[in-house]
Amino acid sequence: MSKKSPTPFPTTTYYGPEYFCDRDDEIQSLKNNINNHQSTTLIAIRRMGKTGLINHLQHHISKDWETIYIDILSTENLNDLLNSLSTAILKTLPEKTKIGQKIWDFFKSLHVTLSYDPLSGEPNVSFNLKQNESKTQIRNLLNMLDQHHKPVLIAIDEFQQITSYPEKGTDAYLRTIVQQLKNVVFIFSGSQQHIMHDLFSNPSKPFFRSTAFLHLEQIDFAIYQNFIVQQFEKYKKKIDKEVVAEILNWTNVHTYYVQLLCNRVFSSSKKEATTKTWQEEASRLLKEQEMVFFTYREMLTKAQWKLIKAIAKEGKVYSITSSAFIQKYAFGSSSGIIRSLQSLLKKELINKQYDEDGKQYYSVYDVLFLRWLEAL
Ligand SMILES: Nc1ncnc2c1ncn2[C@@H]1O[C@H](COP(=O)(O)OP(=O)(O)OP(=O)(O)O)[C@@H](O)[C@H]1O
Ligand SMILES: [Mg+2]
Repeated sequence: MSKKSPTPFPTTTYYGPEYFCDRDDEIQSLKNNINNHQSTTLIAIRRMGKTGLINHLQHHISKDWETIYIDILSTENLNDLLNSLSTAILKTLPEKTKIGQKIWDFFKSLHVTLSYDPLSGEPNVSFNLKQNESKTQIRNLLNMLDQHHKPVLIAIDEFQQITSYPEKGTDAYLRTIVQQLKNVVFIFSGSQQHIMHDLFSNPSKPFFRSTAFLHLEQIDFAIYQNFIVQQFEKYKKKIDKEVVAEILNWTNVHTYYVQLLCNRVFSSSKKEATTKTWQEEASRLLKEQEMVFFTYREMLTKAQWKLIKAIAKEGKVYSITSSAFIQKYAFGSSSGIIRSLQSLLKKELINKQYDEDGKQYYSVYDVLFLRWLEAL
């Protein structure tokens, strides 16, 4: 799966282990779970590296396993889920293998529409079934995989999406199937933490205690710092550790933003990148995003705008209704703050996180937006 990246700091997709920093412990936990036939719930805030980690895992997992990856963000119901799963299976298991043959026969018997992507030539499966029928066919498909001579790992990215399907009780239904499979292990990955937690750790929900949790946090500061210096060196460029530390601080060690800024800094520097180089690139990034930030402002009420600005200035806000915070930014009342906060959380502009000591705080989700607001 490795391919050559045009830059040592890719920001779009996974290009292979040479471009991937650390995550050794997480890979080890995932491997342990998989070998114990234990499914995993992988949770992290957006752009921390969930999808990258799942791709990276495929390099570390033994060839004895068949791995199937689906991203279900664009699915809206069980029929879409079935299509997405079927398409991924066809890509992974060619018709000439025994299991592949069985599955192709199964599709043919159901009169699915099979089309091929004109560019990549990859197959695309499309069922058009009634609601209840999709359920049955998902079960049939998974049961077939359960008969495969190799164990199967299915990674479902953006899993929280199932909670917006119109079919009620999709989670209960999936749990029942998943429980019965002996040869198939899952990774359920998602970024909407409250939904994922509710799905998997709420005692009244079907998936309760059915998986091991893996929370993806920031990559270790020192490890990321060394990695970045080395990536520059590989391409015969230089950057001081101290300069990298400034970049990591500015991006809050949030993977995507680190990659993005390093990508720019790398390409704009000739032999050596300095503090000036990254600062110029950082302000260019903010300028590029400015239109988006203005749209956010239009989308928000005055009170919400005031609150997000205050949170940005503070960086982390531990007690959002404390009198100190209320007084410092001249808010009217704590109930007003709560209302604005709910709305900002729902829009995914603010994020609730826990620090190393397990204390909860609020911060601005998008690092670029945070830096832009701070400067207002
Ligand atoms: N360990 C890593 N080392 C280097 N780059 C990484 C690493 N993990 C992720 N990335 C890069 O960071 C970017 C964001 O990561 P990724 O898309 O995996 O995040 P995500 O958590 O799946 O985000 P989203 O919630 O938006 O789907 C990607 O460009 C990815 O290639
Ligand atoms: Mg992702």
